[in-house]
Amino acid sequence: MSQPPSKSHGRMSISASAAPRDLMEDATRIKGAWSAKVITLLPEAFPGVLGASLTGKALKDGLWRLETVDLRLFGDGKHRNVDDTPAGGGAGMVLRADVMGKAIRHAHQNPHHPLVYLSPRGKPFDQAMAQRFADEPGLTLISGRFEGLDQRVIDHFGIEEVSLGDFVMTGGEIAAQAVLDATVRLLPGVLGNAESLTDESFSNGLLEHPQFTRPSSWEGREIPSVLMSGNHKEVARWRIEEAERLTQERRPDLWKTHSDK
Ligand SMILES: C[S@@+](CC[C@H](N)C(=O)[O-])C[C@H]1O[C@@H](n2cnc3c(N)ncnc32)[C@H](O)[C@@H]1O
Repeated sequence: MSQPPSKSHGRMSISASAAPRDLMEDATRIKGAWSAKVITLLPEAFPGVLGASLTGKALKDGLWRLETVDLRLFGDGKHRNVDDTPAGGGAGMVLRADVMGKAIRHAHQNPHHPLVYLSPRGKPFDQAMAQRFADEPGLTLISGRFEGLDQRVIDHFGIEEVSLGDFVMTGGEIAAQAVLDATVRLLPGVLGNAESLTDESFSNGLLEHPQFTRPSSWEGREIPSVLMSGNHKEVARWRIEEAERLTQERRPDLWKTHSDK
């Protein structure tokens, strides 16, 4: 069995293109900034889309921190094996509990950070969960590959399983980035216009009303006249009615929860 890597390996694991590495390593350090760690076999996939636009700027400005932990470095033997065949037979490979256990002990040292495994079997990710994660000092995410994780490691660490939806991807990296994007944009200072948070889909249990912008006429389609009226009260009323209509039509589940309140 090879020696576990030293603590510095968490950050050293970032490889591939210079851009993501620069963004994650050169970020301004703000003490106590919300911090995310991602255990992954593909550290080069980060920051990915998180390095762009508002989340990228916030990362650069030190409003949040991102660290990848390369699972391969905790692998066993000369080849740093991380997986083995499923007990009981069957297709594919399973991520080993001993290897993942070492990576988790290395990465997850703050008990206030939720410890999450991205998994199609998990609780569906939603806005309330993003808010819960944003309210904590940080988050440790485990990105799976192959057939997923040995169940014992999930049970041992009491890991929360979170799903992006009822479909199966090849790995958890895209799911991790989706969870981080939705969470980071809720952190103070990340979005320029705080108001855009209060009005948008799910913030009040409803889908957002339709949006329009100039030109006022396009392909024979006009912006609803109430939005051009300058009457703020009427605009607000129209937006609520539209949000309610869309939610009833498209998401009866959300509408039921909203109207039961
Ligand atoms: C091929 S999937 C494993 C699927 C697993 N055998 C199953 O049927 O539930 C490999 C990895 O991709 C990630 N993944 C796939 N779909 C996902 C989803 N809908 N939500 C979150 N993570 C997902 C998980 O980390 C998972 O361990």
